[in-house]
Amino acid sequence: MCGIMGFSGNLKKEQESSVDVVLNGLKSLEYRGYDSSGIAYYDNDDRVIKYIKKSGKLTNLSNEFSCITPLNSDAAIGHIRWATHGRPTDENAHPHIDCTGDIAIVHNGIIENYVVLKNKLIKKGHKFTTETDSEVIAHLIEDYINNGKSFYEAVRLSSLELLGAFAILALNAGEKSIAAVKFGPPLVLAQKDNNIYVASDISPLIEYTNDVIYLKNSEIAYFHYGNLEITTFKGKKINKTTTKIDWDASRAAKSGFSHFMQKEIYEQPARLLDAFSSRVMYNDGMKDNVVNINKIKIQRNALGSNENTQNSFNEVFAGAGLKISLEGLKLTKNDVLNSSKIVFIACGSSYYASLAIKYMMEMICGLPVIVGYGSEFRYENFPVSQNDIFVGISQSGETADTNSALEVAKAKRAKILSITNVPGSQITGLSNKGVIYTHAGPEIGVASTKAFTTQLLCGLLLALYIREKSGFIPQYRWFNSQNIFKDLVELPKKMEKILFIDETLKDIAKKYYKSSNFLYLGRGILYPIALEGALKLKEISYIHAEGYPAGEMKHGPIALVDENMPVLFLLSNNMLASKTISNIEEIKARGGRIIAVADYEPEIDGLSDLIRIPETLEVLSPILYTLPLQLFAYHIAALKGTDIDQPRNLAKSVTVE
Ligand code: M6R
Repeated sequence: MCGIMGFSGNLKKEQESSVDVVLNGLKSLEYRGYDSSGIAYYDNDDRVIKYIKKSGKLTNLSNEFSCITPLNSDAAIGHIRWATHGRPTDENAHPHIDCTGDIAIVHNGIIENYVVLKNKLIKKGHKFTTETDSEVIAHLIEDYINNGKSFYEAVRLSSLELLGAFAILALNAGEKSIAAVKFGPPLVLAQKDNNIYVASDISPLIEYTNDVIYLKNSEIAYFHYGNLEITTFKGKKINKTTTKIDWDASRAAKSGFSHFMQKEIYEQPARLLDAFSSRVMYNDGMKDNVVNINKIKIQRNALGSNENTQNSFNEVFAGAGLKISLEGLKLTKNDVLNSSKIVFIACGSSYYASLAIKYMMEMICGLPVIVGYGSEFRYENFPVSQNDIFVGISQSGETADTNSALEVAKAKRAKILSITNVPGSQITGLSNKGVIYTHAGPEIGVASTKAFTTQLLCGLLLALYIREKSGFIPQYRWFNSQNIFKDLVELPKKMEKILFIDETLKDIAKKYYKSSNFLYLGRGILYPIALEGALKLKEISYIHAEGYPAGEMKHGPIALVDENMPVLFLLSNNMLASKTISNIEEIKARGGRIIAVADYEPEIDGLSDLIRIPETLEVLSPILYTLPLQLFAYHIAALKGTDIDQPRNLAKSVTVE
């Protein structure tokens, strides 16, 4: 995955150029790729396109530009790369330039037929200078211009020839204009006065305006200064509506934290509240009302500060009959009653969130749930029927594996809904039964944190919603909205309590950060959290870590355990507690060093470290257990001095298969 940003406008501020705007935008997009970057700009004085491209981090590029300011330019395009075709060298970095030097392009995606096109263009005399698939785009546009087409027509006709996935920005010297093409990867536009911005996502745009335009597949935006025209690939003009984004620009800043990841971990209590507070309704006998979380707190104070929230909750909402309201969800009672199965599709952390949600769904609705990796599902012979409900989970909404798998299900007429963080992202367009937004706000750290816990919460709300719609009463009768909500309102505070033990977690991390391997073990609904904890450690500290169901250890992996192996157990005071303790004993007997995260004081000797966290309902416990694992991984990585926000080889979302 790569990130692209373009700007054309009339800058009033002295000494600010289009390059500053694009460089600034690329900083917000850097999570999308960071092995090289580049910017092409129109030089107003020399009336030509100039460019700089550099391998390595974005700072390499900004250092180069800092030597040539002030610049007089009001149109530029930029790119931040995560290499697919061609090594991450200066040459292979974008932008790519045609033979005349009048056209520069940046590209996010893959051009599948680039070899055929390249050979054709080489025969016509075009000179290629890179190993990339993307360079072919610049020459293809040039070729159409050589044949008398206007820049816009050349871009449009080229788009029709390209196969694969592409979001392209093309800058043209003759017209000082930019064309933005979307087929697959996202592109969002924003206009403020005479300035037009375009980017791979909204994070670089919210600094200027909250009103954005999402391009759809097979659309081209063509603009210079304040003039914007949008057409289809067939050339038909279209009027697009703007969407208001509720993200605020300050959320995309580190705000005093050392890393975005750390900030995003700390944001979780607030983001969880954002994700559920407007979605729980009660009926006062007349109409449905949104439950006012503050009202619960006020009642608690009025009742006396020693009363717990559950008492005040009962006072306020006794018998009120809570309902879940998921705006934008079009799942009907019939859809639910006729459904033959519910299938979750996701990748990475979102896959682990789906696994935990499977347990929630089965507890709350009594419906069987299947969870599939996007990358595998697409090529399986999995039977899909039109009665199936598919739920895609994706922070970015752009993950190619997830979206392609959903497309397969959609082609077989299954019902598709999604849980995502990014408004207007590709997954939302696939979701014929609606979208549940996680409201986590921009997540910049490559390792998912707040997106993961808000996904868990949204999955829980979906389970309650489905139960309400279907009237199914599974064996866990007690798991209804009323009872779960009582514990849910307490969750942000309990999360804060875990954040208070951050220093303790740092001290524990100091004991283990030199280990080469870790095992993370959990059972039941905490097993997916063991997987997620291990993934966090792997991603940011580069330590090998394995998540495993605790009860499965004895069937093989226990052979790995010796005195050098730290084993982290997720231990909960539930019906599996005694079984997990037996698993701990098995590890102890083989000399493993045991760290336990527990919501009670377990009676076990010989624990190396105990991380105590607050208790909550089992169905909510994945949310709480995730936090200490995120902090533990964070501190280990910080002690090792790795690049926490941009770990090597990774990109925030992977838009290629
Ligand atoms: O944007 P998505 O949720 O679809 O991304 C899926 C995975 O690529 C993502 O969760 C990845 O595993 C993260 N690096 C996890 O921290």
